Amino acid sequence: MRIIYPHFLGVFSALWGLATGAFPSSVQIGGLFIRNTDQEYTAFRLAIFLHNTSPNATEAPFNLVPHVDNIETANSFAVTNAFCSQYSRGVFAIFGLYDKRSVHTLTSFCSALHISLVTPSFPTEGEGQFTLQLRPSIRGALLSLLDHYDWSRFVFLYDTDRGYAILQSIMERAGQNGWQVSAICVESFNEAAYRRLLEDLDRRQERKYVIDLEPERLQCILEQAISVGKHVKGYHYILANLGFKDISLERFMHGGANVTGFQLVDFSKPMVLKLMQRWNKLDQREYPGSDSPPKYTSSLTYDGVLVMAEAFRNLRRQKIDISRRGNAGDCLANPAAPWNQGIDMERTLKQVRIQGLTGNIQFDHYGRRVNYTMDVFELKSNGPQRIGYWNDIDKLVLVQNEVLLSNDSTSLENRTVVVTTIMPLMRKPLLRH
Ligand SMILES: *[C@@H]1O[C@H](CO)[C@@H](O)[C@H](O)[C@H]1NC(C)=O
Ligand SMILES: *[C@@H]1O[C@H](CO)[C@@H](O)[C@H](O)[C@H]1NC(C)=O
Ligand SMILES: *[C@@H]1O[C@H](CO)[C@@H](O)[C@H](O)[C@H]1NC(C)=O
Ligand SMILES: *[C@@H]1O[C@H](CO)[C@@H](O)[C@H](O)[C@H]1NC(C)=O
Ligand SMILES: *[C@@H]1O[C@H](CO)[C@@H](O)[C@H](O)[C@H]1NC(C)=O
Repeated sequence: MRIIYPHFLGVFSALWGLATGAFPSSVQIGGLFIRNTDQEYTAFRLAIFLHNTSPNATEAPFNLVPHVDNIETANSFAVTNAFCSQYSRGVFAIFGLYDKRSVHTLTSFCSALHISLVTPSFPTEGEGQFTLQLRPSIRGALLSLLDHYDWSRFVFLYDTDRGYAILQSIMERAGQNGWQVSAICVESFNEAAYRRLLEDLDRRQERKYVIDLEPERLQCILEQAISVGKHVKGYHYILANLGFKDISLERFMHGGANVTGFQLVDFSKPMVLKLMQRWNKLDQREYPGSDSPPKYTSSLTYDGVLVMAEAFRNLRRQKIDISRRGNAGDCLANPAAPWNQGIDMERTLKQVRIQGLTGNIQFDHYGRRVNYTMDVFELKSNGPQRIGYWNDIDKLVLVQNEVLLSNDSTSLENRTVVVTTIMPLMRKPLLRH
């Protein structure tokens, strides 16, 4: 489905009618969404809407004009089509999601034609020069946590959707430390197979698990764990996922199993609270997925728009006039004719430093997040409890519970904020406070 924004025609003539030497007043960007990313698309649209309606002319001296493709099956043909049509429309950068089947096609086109791709999808392996990864790596945090719990024997459940990077690190560390790790790929498993596996492992006295799966599969295996009664005291699950609060864990809470995970978005931060006020007012018919709080991938999507807007502001400030004129033709031309300002665009994107919903946003030379922080949560009998945080500079820092529950002058109003942070966990908020 192709969605062309109504103001598209006006914008088009404004852009192409420009005399040389002025930064465009409308900046065209691509948007590429795949199956099951309705909520991410909602976050994208909201971010662009808020940018374009900002009353602050310093913040938004130009409009962002998205050209969006929502593709159902992200095979290389569909992705090629979408990329080429956006390319020929003269986009300056593309915001896009990919899956295992489409990642190579998309990143190869971007490298060949020097079009930057800003993505919340799983980090690619290797060094895609024109790819900016919004999603921070979980590897360091996971290894720190395993050290903290001092696990020497555990089960590692994974799929290959995001490549082998985490598996590799775990096995390396296991080799160094003499850990006994049963690594099991559960990619082709159905519900019955999950249950059989869990029962089997149980017979082998396995009680500690690291689960490294994308949310859909993760939720499925957790449901199967409940159905075979492995959500009770004596079991410990570490979820290698950046959205602990996106996952429904109520049954585990009542069952008494230990569950630990990571949370990239801090729902008590003023910027997130402010966005949530907007989010909660969205009409879910028009903005699918807005009936539940933004998942971390949706927050990354929102931040992706902020990153792009900041990069364009910086180019404008540096008086670098961007234009795709003479370079918006055939994406399959041979030899490829890359955009001659593509490298400026890429450099400017990687230099962006802003605060977003996912905290400090900063990239290294390879377009990977650096200087980021994620909270570490344990599921307690009264809900998820922050036990500390991990960042790539300080590593794992545990905090005392007393500090979090300081009881001096906390007003009722501020307590309410604490309650809302628990809400995303529960499908139907059952506030017992
Ligand atoms: C406008 O936006 C700029 C850049 O984000 C910011 O520094 C400034 O304080 C804003 N001005 C107002 C009046 O909000
Ligand atoms: C669960 O957590 C409690 C409290 O931290 C700890 O005493 C217990 O050993 C943990 N259980 C497992 C199976 O790790
Ligand atoms: C890391 O981010 C913080 C803001 O969260 C910033 O103050 C600090 O300078 C950054 N550190 C480095 C090394 O860039
Ligand atoms: C919280 O209240 C308890 C009992 O009223 C008190 O002993 C404790 O010192 C208080 N903690 C803080 C951080 O104020
Ligand atoms: C809530 O907490 C903030 C920061 O901790 C504080 O500035 C504010 O005064 C508190 N609100 C009330 C009503 O006490």
